[in-house]
Amino acid sequence: MQAAQRPCDDDSAWAPWAAQWRLREDTLYLNHGSFGPPPDPVRQARAAWQARLDEQPMDFFVRQLAPAWENARRRLAKFVGTNETNLVFQANATAAMNVVAGSLPLTAGDEVLLTDHEYGAVFRIWERACRRAGAKVQTVTLPLPLESAEQVTAAIVAALTPRTRLVVVSHITSPTAITLPVNAICHAARERGIPVGIDGPHAVAQLDLRLDEIDCDFYTASCHKWLSAPFGSGFLFVHPRWQSHVEPPLLSWGLLSPNKPQAWWEEFFWSGTADPSAFLAIPAAIDFLEQVGLPAFRARTHELARYARRRLVELTGLTPIVPDSAAWYGSMAHVPLPPGDAPQLQRTLWERHKIEVPIVAWNGGRYIRVSCHLYNNTTHIDRLIDALAPLV
Ligand SMILES: Cc1ncc(COP(=O)(O)O)c(C=O)c1O
Repeated sequence: MQAAQRPCDDDSAWAPWAAQWRLREDTLYLNHGSFGPPPDPVRQARAAWQARLDEQPMDFFVRQLAPAWENARRRLAKFVGTNETNLVFQANATAAMNVVAGSLPLTAGDEVLLTDHEYGAVFRIWERACRRAGAKVQTVTLPLPLESAEQVTAAIVAALTPRTRLVVVSHITSPTAITLPVNAICHAARERGIPVGIDGPHAVAQLDLRLDEIDCDFYTASCHKWLSAPFGSGFLFVHPRWQSHVEPPLLSWGLLSPNKPQAWWEEFFWSGTADPSAFLAIPAAIDFLEQVGLPAFRARTHELARYARRRLVELTGLTPIVPDSAAWYGSMAHVPLPPGDAPQLQRTLWERHKIEVPIVAWNGGRYIRVSCHLYNNTTHIDRLIDALAPLV
């Protein structure tokens, strides 16, 4: 096998951007996909909002918050390609998915279809919603290796039944880091009158999201992954055809008294007193990546992920589950490892080498998922390979 080429981009050209993060010196962090730390400008923006809140809470909550919240939402809506009235902030994708599960009318005998690549907590959310209604979660196994978008859509369509009330798919999957063809899936489901909820936390910034073009019914996301917004920032998108069905799980004022909520989203404005600074700093995260240039950000992080993938394949001789193409994966490399104890290997990499990288047990196999953001470089990948070589 040909030795993996280093990415054409020079690491040193990216060093000024990498210097915007305050990561612990003892750690090699290759897990932005689980928890994406914010760069300095985002931390500063959040701190500034917190200061405004702490120094005059009454003025902040009663007079400043509504326009700031709407400005931040407008910016995010433009960034993800939809109208602001289709979006509300949520602390994370999990909270957003719980809103969908709490709002979808399910009755005994109904089915909710998930792929076998979905996030574990999303399975739990739908299992509970189905159990309460006497409905069932069905899982469709996608073929492996994945070779075409048509193959994925066909597998999902074949698993639909007259009882399917919702399809839940990730835009980019968690255990396998693959980009699913959500536009085609939504199109096929809509032709059959079945709504689709997309679990999208990895897609925000990794992909050029155009929510209105996807035409899904629900989209749930976290901004504290690839967008590098503060922890505790996410959103829920609800298509207008569903907005009258959606209810906030935490009922409070909606809009602050004396106003009365009229539109669906107004019920989500106020869910009790909380610190909204993470939401209000989302525009700073968008500004930051726009300054870098989103195409450059995506190209750089994909090149790094591609380098990681190639080096890992050289090491293990094992074939990844998707072709080597930006259509299938973005900023995360996902490669099979020889069989073994996944949690033990992850622990060893941390304890011996201070490398933070997820080793995933999935579908009876063991995989490594390497996240590459702007603070990562080729030397990080080389260090991972050196550490891993004697362990696998
Ligand atoms: C595909 C997917 N869905 C949902 C989540 C949950 O995200 P959060 O913890 O931000 O709610 C994750 C987290 O890693 C994920 O990877």
